[in-house]
Amino acid sequence: MIITQSLQGEHGAINALLNFLEQRAPDASAEQLGLLADVLGAVLLSHATIEDELLVPEIRPFLPPAPGGPGAPTDHQIIAGLLRKTEETSDGAARRRLLLETVAETRKHFTKEETKIFPLTEREIPLETQRALAKEWALRRAVCLE
Ligand SMILES: [Fe+2]
Ligand SMILES: [Fe+2]
Repeated sequence: MIITQSLQGEHGAINALLNFLEQRAPDASAEQLGLLADVLGAVLLSHATIEDELLVPEIRPFLPPAPGGPGAPTDHQIIAGLLRKTEETSDGAARRRLLLETVAETRKHFTKEETKIFPLTEREIPLETQRALAKEWALRRAVCLE
């Protein structure tokens, strides 16, 4: 197994959660929306941390310059910021709008990774490294690979 396969598998599982949130958000109370945001945050932040720690250091030299310049927030930071705002507001309508915006940003970000970042990784990073990163991923996620 290589690291991009591990991360794509996580995207697949997270997509099920995104679908669930979109189904539940229209009729959810402010309190329920807060809980849904907490769950999404727990899943997304752990996924982003793994990518930031395992994948980003390897792939950074091959990435084009960030469109907003070197100090611009990353997609992960933008999504974390949206989640923070969702949790900070107590207004139900604002929470719903922010939660659904977070879901939409996450989908956009996954597509970018799956169509650009992951293929770049598979092209540029030595296969041995890609396999070693998948082993480290399995260790952190408590998944048996063999
Ligand atoms: Fe990501
Ligand atoms: Fe990802």
